[in-house]
Amino acid sequence: MELDNQTSGTGHIVDYNLEEEIFHGIYVSKLVYGLAQTLGLEEAVSKELAVAGVLHDIGKLKLNRYIYEENDTLVVEEIKYVRMHAKLSYEILKDQNRYSDFILESILHHHENYDGSGYPDNLKADAIPLGAKLLRVCDVYAALTSDRPYRSSFDENSAMELMIDEVKNFDLRVFLAFQKMIHLDEENFCPTRIKQDCKFQLNLQNMKTEQTLS
Ligand SMILES: [Fe+2]
Repeated sequence: MELDNQTSGTGHIVDYNLEEEIFHGIYVSKLVYGLAQTLGLEEAVSKELAVAGVLHDIGKLKLNRYIYEENDTLVVEEIKYVRMHAKLSYEILKDQNRYSDFILESILHHHENYDGSGYPDNLKADAIPLGAKLLRVCDVYAALTSDRPYRSSFDENSAMELMIDEVKNFDLRVFLAFQKMIHLDEENFCPTRIKQDCKFQLNLQNMKTEQTLS
């Protein structure tokens, strides 16, 4: 089964490619697990964050249902819907009754900014759950170092510089630990290496799916 075929191809901002979304989830998961370990969090907490990393954007896959098929959709409308995805992810996973409150609240608040300018609840500083603070940093770095339909990926140093420009969005202790992790273990956390690992895992998953279907 080719996951690429799931793309709706309408040309909207909200035009998700399932394989890219899975790749992004695996990428964030690897980063956030490493960050949790760097911060000295317990193994069980680090593993919960790894799960949250994989699933944090799952609500985006539901967003296409809210978007018109025509190309004249208002950009403002699309942005409004994009901002719904954190809550949608939370609701989808909560309904499954299998994820801890720690995972759920980390996902619900993964777009909150430290200065209170994020969403869905404009939480500020230490009102933001710790797991969400870690996800925020890893999510931004993963996005910047990945290709997007409208731009190529930034290299590691450029991504870090862009994040320093926007440091108001991050808990400084978490961001400094993230910088330390990337610099101390460049080989393991370099975007190319992680992307290769993610692609390998995706290919394995595709092979398993094909075997199941055949
Ligand atoms: Fe997100």
